[in-house]
Amino acid sequence: MKLVVTRAQAVSGEIVIPSDKSLTHRSYLLGAIANGPSRIENPLRGEDCESTRHCLEQLGTRFEDDGTFVTVIPATEWSQPTEPLDCGNSGTTMRLLSGLLASRPRTVTMKGDASLSRRPMKRIAKPLNEMGAVVTGETPPLTIQGGQLHGITYHSEVASAQVKSCVLLAGLRAEGKTVLHEPTKSRDHTERMLTAMGASITVDGNAVAIEPSFDLKPFEMRVPGDISSAAFWLVAGALLAEQPLTLIGVNVNPTRTGILDVLNQVGATVVHRNPREENGEPVADLEITRDATKPFVIEGSLVPRLIDEIPVLAVLATQLNGETIIRDARELRVKETDRIGVVSAGLRAMGANVEATEDGFVIQGPTPLKGATIDASGDHRIGMAFAIAGLVADGHTVIENADSIQTSYPNFESHLRSIVKS
Ligand code: S3P
Repeated sequence: MKLVVTRAQAVSGEIVIPSDKSLTHRSYLLGAIANGPSRIENPLRGEDCESTRHCLEQLGTRFEDDGTFVTVIPATEWSQPTEPLDCGNSGTTMRLLSGLLASRPRTVTMKGDASLSRRPMKRIAKPLNEMGAVVTGETPPLTIQGGQLHGITYHSEVASAQVKSCVLLAGLRAEGKTVLHEPTKSRDHTERMLTAMGASITVDGNAVAIEPSFDLKPFEMRVPGDISSAAFWLVAGALLAEQPLTLIGVNVNPTRTGILDVLNQVGATVVHRNPREENGEPVADLEITRDATKPFVIEGSLVPRLIDEIPVLAVLATQLNGETIIRDARELRVKETDRIGVVSAGLRAMGANVEATEDGFVIQGPTPLKGATIDASGDHRIGMAFAIAGLVADGHTVIENADSIQTSYPNFESHLRSIVKS
């Protein structure tokens, strides 16, 4: 599928932000290990979350779906799948499910698409093996022979919520306490949800400890909007919204709001309306108006708080006055694509002044962008980031292989068309 975007004079209006992908994955996975059925309102209907659901179905979990509510009915005992579980494009599915499989006495293989098959799995295999599971595969397919685990204290080299969640989920059924240290704090949805389900979790700086727990309460939750999807409109608004652009129902969990700190650095105003709490997560409607001038720096502990937003923030940087520096973001090289390589090549093709570094970018702005043909390369966030670049570029920007946008934002194109004033 191709997405063609032309320059917009302005953007304005209102978008109801699609549900949070990280929370939808976790609601299915944690619903599958609760001690009764859980009910989830408004889960994300993207392909990544469907992968989690299909894998869990193959393990015996049942899902009842009326189009608005999904009820997760856990299996009394997990079944032995007859074929490898297909995680599609979703690293979250593979890494978090590994943590659950590690403590169950089965041998299960998980596979993925071409992109997932290149992504590193040693980061979860190592702690799970230390806990007593037998995990093989540095990249997918990954085979997990589960069994009785014992708690460990583990220092993760990367600040990764997927690694942290994997180890915490394994720790639920280990003997003794499991402690996970990460270099800087990553998103904390797993900790919040497990605590609400009655697990014993303590957080001390960048360390999280979990005690074994076999009795987790089922839950009812409404999934709020994903700030990683709102990010595309926040950047479009910072560049083009003469009248306010309003983003309804965004999860503003502080471990996810690095993009708001960056928008503050560049001089754009984001007004929080209607602040509320939904299922232990802070939620607000965000209103953005155009005013982005100053360049920004992303480094250190800010990186995990906006890791998925960096491609679109690189687009923003091309329009700012001066030098933007993004560093400490080596993780971008092992996302759905090598996002440092793909973003810098695409932006250069559009006329931007971008240098790719080992762990980020140096971007000189402002540069006028010209329309180009960009291959989304099987990466949803690349497709969407370059669609936003197309809004400020001359001529037509053609995003090829844009189907991957379905993994996280099925109605992206209609939302884009709804806010554009040309
Ligand atoms: C996610 C964590 C992040 C993020 C990914 C979703 C999650 O990955 O990039 O899109 O749901 O836990 P890492 O934890 O590997 O950084």
